[in-house]
Amino acid sequence: MWALELLPHSLTSTSLLVALLGLLLAYLLSSTLSKQDGRAPPGPRPLPLLGNLLQLDLKEPHRSLLELSKKYGPVFTVHMGPQRVVVLAGFKAVKEALVTNAEVFGERSRPMIAEMIGHNNGVLFSNGDSWREMRRFALSNLRDFGMGKKSCEDKIREECCHLVEVFQSFKGEPFDSTQPVNYAVSNIICSLVYGSRFQYDDPDFTSLVDRTNRIIQLIGSPSIQIFNNFPWLGPLIRQKNFLMRSFQANKQQNLRLFARLQETLNPQMCRGFVDSFMVRKQHLQESGTKSHFHDDNLLITVLNLFAAGTDTTATTLRWALLFMAKYPRMQDQVQGEISSVIGGRQVQLEDRRNLPFTDAVIHETQRLANILPLALPHRTSQDVTFQGHFISKGTTVFPLLMSVLYDENEWEEPRRFHPAHFLDKNGKFVKRDAFMPFSAGRRVCLGESLAKMELFVFFTTLLQHFRFSPPAGLSAEDLDLTPRMGLTLNPSAHQLCATACM
Ligand code: HEM
Repeated sequence: MWALELLPHSLTSTSLLVALLGLLLAYLLSSTLSKQDGRAPPGPRPLPLLGNLLQLDLKEPHRSLLELSKKYGPVFTVHMGPQRVVVLAGFKAVKEALVTNAEVFGERSRPMIAEMIGHNNGVLFSNGDSWREMRRFALSNLRDFGMGKKSCEDKIREECCHLVEVFQSFKGEPFDSTQPVNYAVSNIICSLVYGSRFQYDDPDFTSLVDRTNRIIQLIGSPSIQIFNNFPWLGPLIRQKNFLMRSFQANKQQNLRLFARLQETLNPQMCRGFVDSFMVRKQHLQESGTKSHFHDDNLLITVLNLFAAGTDTTATTLRWALLFMAKYPRMQDQVQGEISSVIGGRQVQLEDRRNLPFTDAVIHETQRLANILPLALPHRTSQDVTFQGHFISKGTTVFPLLMSVLYDENEWEEPRRFHPAHFLDKNGKFVKRDAFMPFSAGRRVCLGESLAKMELFVFFTTLLQHFRFSPPAGLSAEDLDLTPRMGLTLNPSAHQLCATACM
């Protein structure tokens, strides 16, 4: 259906001929390759040019791939149009690839849209020396500015006060938490990156966050997936042009922010990541050293941190609130625990070890919400024989994180919200190996420690202050848990009531 919608009504005879020749070439190429590649991972037979696209639901590709894994096993091949992809399914295969063979499976495959946006800059979609330097610099800098430390905890606690005020302003009436939660979470990464937080009514800030949110939704949409596989269809895909315009607007806004920071830069007192980057760049330029510390890398790394640091954590928090409204008895248990351990004082990170049930609920939210079901695409750095299958250098690999988080061999109740997955028989918190929402290995999430701290402090503070319930006239059963597809899996549009507890 999508293919028909995208084709122009008046295809010229030349373009038809070119298309037919392309089909023939692709078919000949794919049959030659499959003959050569006897030991390649199995998979459904591809059609010329389209590959297996007709067998995949592009609105929910992770579900189609999970289905295919039942037939073809933990390592299989699918053709996304002309592109061959190896899919890894289940805890054992994903761990063996990403952890045991971290170097081989640790490169990033860059879809066409990411290529157009950032080339080999930034952290998310880069490789080689540039990636290594940007990742190392971002990690050590975010740590210097508080990631995983007490100073960051204080920033999160301060932000909680602002968020609680917004929730209170609805006076128990139903509201959509998307924007306030996004703004609160975004402010934490803003403090680390730019050195300051923003007001929730600052239009420069809100437009940046809202646009980033739309970009992330669009990047996972079927039309952008089609563009990634058939870039020559670009001019016909409206969303691609919209996405590029939004991205340009975010770039311009960041350049204005950088200019203001540059004017007031004091190398002895860096306020955040941007300041430190500028200082490092200046030193290297003065010493005449050629390096990856240039303006494009600054811009794309900041945009990466902003996007990855906002959407993921905010989406997870909103899932957690939705689960609490859906399962009121679990909410009772969380609130009982918080009230007996913390009472009315401010939440601290140290409280986590005395709140095993609350901690288990947060982990179970991350497991079931499964917000990045395919992780981000990886790529092999060399030829490899993996579980008896030959995978050539440069092959795109999808670690199907959903198949790990829902692995029937690892979880007692894979499809149910079941916090007991993370509790022993005495009610103590237990870690689980197959808990992999941040992925693993060389490309493991750079912000894992920050995200964990944010999730705990925001969630616990919100549950300390509010009772979450469906709007009047709806029951908990009416709340819909079907995700809205994008690059991350969000809850579908919904409203909740937040009634003050104290
Ligand atoms: C609940 C919150 C979060 C989840 C579930 C999450 C999950 C992930 C996943 C699955 C990946 C891909 C790993 C792979 O390719 O194998 C990733 C990468 C990344 N994440 Fe997160 N993330 C979260 C929060 C954050 C935060 C707060 C930051 C900001 C500092 C961040 C920054 C990044 C970056 C920069 C990468 C790219 C790493 C690389 O390619 O080297 N993430 N994240």
